[in-house]
Amino acid sequence: MEKDWYKRMAFYQIWIRSFYDGNGDGIGDLYGVYEKLPYIKSLGVDGIWFSPLYPSPNADYGYDISDYKNIHPDYGDLEQFQKVLDKAHSLGLKVIMDLVVNHTSDEHPWFQESRKSRDNPYSDYYIWRDGKNGKLPNNWDSLFEGKAWEYCPERDQYYLHIFAKKQPDLNMDNPKVREEVKSIMRFWLDRGVDGFREDVITFISKADNLPNGLPFIPAANGLPFYKDGPHIHEYLAEFRKVCQEYDCFQLGEGPMTSTRSALSYLTGKNKSLDLMFHFDHMFADCIFTEYMQRPFHLRSLKHAFSKWQKALNGKAWNTLYLENHDHPRVISRYGNERYHRVSGSMLAVCYLFQQGTPFVYQGQEIGMTNIKLASIDQYVDVSSHNNYHTFHLKDSVEKRMERIHASSRDSARTPMQWDDSKNAGFTTGKPWFYINPNYRRINVAAEEEQPFSILKLYRRCLHYRKNSEVALWGDYKEYDKSSNQLYVYKRTYQQKSLLVVCSFSTHCLKWHTIKEFRGKKGKLVICNYPNPVHGMLKPYEARVYEYDSACGETGKR
Ligand code: GLC
Ligand code: CA
Repeated sequence: MEKDWYKRMAFYQIWIRSFYDGNGDGIGDLYGVYEKLPYIKSLGVDGIWFSPLYPSPNADYGYDISDYKNIHPDYGDLEQFQKVLDKAHSLGLKVIMDLVVNHTSDEHPWFQESRKSRDNPYSDYYIWRDGKNGKLPNNWDSLFEGKAWEYCPERDQYYLHIFAKKQPDLNMDNPKVREEVKSIMRFWLDRGVDGFREDVITFISKADNLPNGLPFIPAANGLPFYKDGPHIHEYLAEFRKVCQEYDCFQLGEGPMTSTRSALSYLTGKNKSLDLMFHFDHMFADCIFTEYMQRPFHLRSLKHAFSKWQKALNGKAWNTLYLENHDHPRVISRYGNERYHRVSGSMLAVCYLFQQGTPFVYQGQEIGMTNIKLASIDQYVDVSSHNNYHTFHLKDSVEKRMERIHASSRDSARTPMQWDDSKNAGFTTGKPWFYINPNYRRINVAAEEEQPFSILKLYRRCLHYRKNSEVALWGDYKEYDKSSNQLYVYKRTYQQKSLLVVCSFSTHCLKWHTIKEFRGKKGKLVICNYPNPVHGMLKPYEARVYEYDSACGETGKR
């Protein structure tokens, strides 16, 4: 097996509840995934990342786990999982699981035991503290629901929850908890999975004594005391050892991670992860969270892209993504719903040709967009409710709903639109959540028919990438950094170059290639318009040119 095989790959992310319902109860499941594996394969991806499939009360839709070694009955059972895994493997698709070990569900048997008393075998599995003079143990905020502490009368103590109240944080300082994590990893690796996406893994080690944050911090108070905490590298080294017994890879989620901090996980003596998801390019239209909107700013998107391309080059490997289950749909943010097809396909080009391992989130490949439900009560995501009821309370309901429309994670979680039949072909039953009414226009079947559809462009890009050494390994260089309309970059490897040109404008723009390439004969290998015009880019046009002799430097692997 080739080492670092994940560098050649592209992944498809499945958030199963909304992917495809195979048994008609209105909820996506592993029977549905089984049926759609050939579709996934047809995209040109090489692997699947499953958001959590485990039993969960769904306070955070799967990220609150009540049994790590089983499958949620809504989604099937272990036998059906094995069928999906084996079929995926037979199609040449790897499968990675979500490993969510910063917290469990409060309905997990460990917590049910832990909460009973201060001296039971599980009493130290979580982070319990006494109140301080009738107040909370410290001033930390949770990221999802008020303060980070919840009182438990049985113990007359508080437990820590960095996320929702129903997601108590595990006490990773307890060696028994770390043994549990390793046993969970082995459980899935023994079944044949190929790795893990490790949920908020940079949060699992908390600072000793849990010190107070500064009193005037308006949100996420406490973050510096649990992000990249004091024992994080020790604990991750233990988990790494387990993975090294298998041929698998580890991808960590690193909210608010800087390039410097990412490199501390991805390189050197503490190397404990192969890849990391950072969030920098998710803030080109918002501040800190999507709920705090500002107008989209291409320069800040480009800056984030280029910063990571540069910082990791030759040292570590990037992940590339524009969407996942935690962010609204990218066409509604960085593209333009009125220029649906061209902006959706341009966005594909703009990230798929960077250096790294790309991820495509279900529905992204057909250009699904944000849903706009009339009332906050129709939303189910815990963080949307929290945002709505915590921030900008003086704004009108309409204003706050606009914020929800632009930011809710539920926009990424509406059922997948397969065709224009009832329920978008997602289920024969009653769908568990609202289907975006635009499904009659935006769906897989329609995209299969149109010659220049978003779906077809994703396929073309992904197929091109995997067969192109320069697209896989080439160095990255950005041009025209100050432009707020064009994103232009070059990849170079040995004697080949790619020039990627993406317009984010609703107007036609004059375009003569950059100086370095003038007079050179390039081959246009990707374009999202059928008849590109010389000297001009149409709205949201994207082009990729291939050149045979490297212009300037030579790329290294
Ligand atoms: C990660 C997940 C997100 C979840 C959170 C808490 O950020 O991607 O969906 O809500 O962790 O587990
Ligand atoms: Ca079902």
